[in-house]
Amino acid sequence: MDILSKLNTRYATKVFDPTKKVSEADMEKLLEAIRLSASSYGLQPYKVLVVEDPAIRAELRKAAWGQSQITDASALLIFAAKYETNAGTVDEFVDLVSQTRNIPKEALFGFSDMMKGSIQSQSQEQIETWVSKQAYIALGFGLVSAAVLDIDACPMEGFSPADFDRILDINKLGLKSKVILAVGYRSEEDKYQHLAKVRQKKEDLFIKF
Ligand SMILES: Cc1cc2nc3c(=O)[nH]c(=O)nc-3n(C[C@H](O)[C@H](O)[C@H](O)COP(=O)(O)O)c2cc1C
Repeated sequence: MDILSKLNTRYATKVFDPTKKVSEADMEKLLEAIRLSASSYGLQPYKVLVVEDPAIRAELRKAAWGQSQITDASALLIFAAKYETNAGTVDEFVDLVSQTRNIPKEALFGFSDMMKGSIQSQSQEQIETWVSKQAYIALGFGLVSAAVLDIDACPMEGFSPADFDRILDINKLGLKSKVILAVGYRSEEDKYQHLAKVRQKKEDLFIKF
C-alpha cells in the first residue's frame, strides 16, 4: 500500500452517493482503527456515536446548515468529548489497565495520583479543551484509516453542537459533541474530487532546527 497515494486520493467529500453503503466488515475495521487511537495517558475521554438512523440524521442535518453529507453518507460518526472527566474516570481507567495488563491496582497508585492531580489542577474549561483535543486525535485516526480502507470521508465542524447534544440527548451522559466524520462513497457528481490539493509548501510548513 502506498500511503501517500491513498492520502492524495482522499478529500473532504461534499457529495456522497446515498446508494452506496460501507460493508459491515470495513466499518468494523474503521471503528477498530479509531479505538486504537492514541490519547493522553490512554484515557480516551470521549465516545464515538455511530449514527445510522435516517430519522435522527434528518434532524441532525437541519442543525448542520443542511449539509447533505449528514444524511447521504453511509454512516455518521460523532466524536463526543467526555466533559465530565474527573477522578472517577481515572479510577475506571486504572481498573482497565490493571485487568488488561494483570497488574495489581496498588502498583498503579502513583500513576493514578499523577493523573488525578493533573485533572484536579485544571479548570472545567481547561478540562473540556483537553478532552476535546483527544477526540480530535481520534478523528485524525479515523480520517487516515478511512483513506487506507478506500472509504470516503468528510470531517465536519459545521454544525451546532448544542443542537446536536439536544437531539441526541447526550449531556446526561456527560458528553458534548465536538466533531463529525461522515463516511461512505463519493458521488460521481462531486466536483470537489477533481480539485488539486491546496497545501503549504514543504519548506513553509516544516521548520528545521
Ligand atoms: C475539523 C474539520 C472541520 C471541517 N468541517 C467541514 C464541514 O463542516 N463541512 C465540509 O464540507 N468540510 C469540512 N472540513 C473539510 C475541510 O474543508 C478540508 O479538509 C480542507 O479544505 C482540506 O481539503 P481536503 O480534506 O479535501 O484535502 C473540515 C475539516 C476539518 C479537519
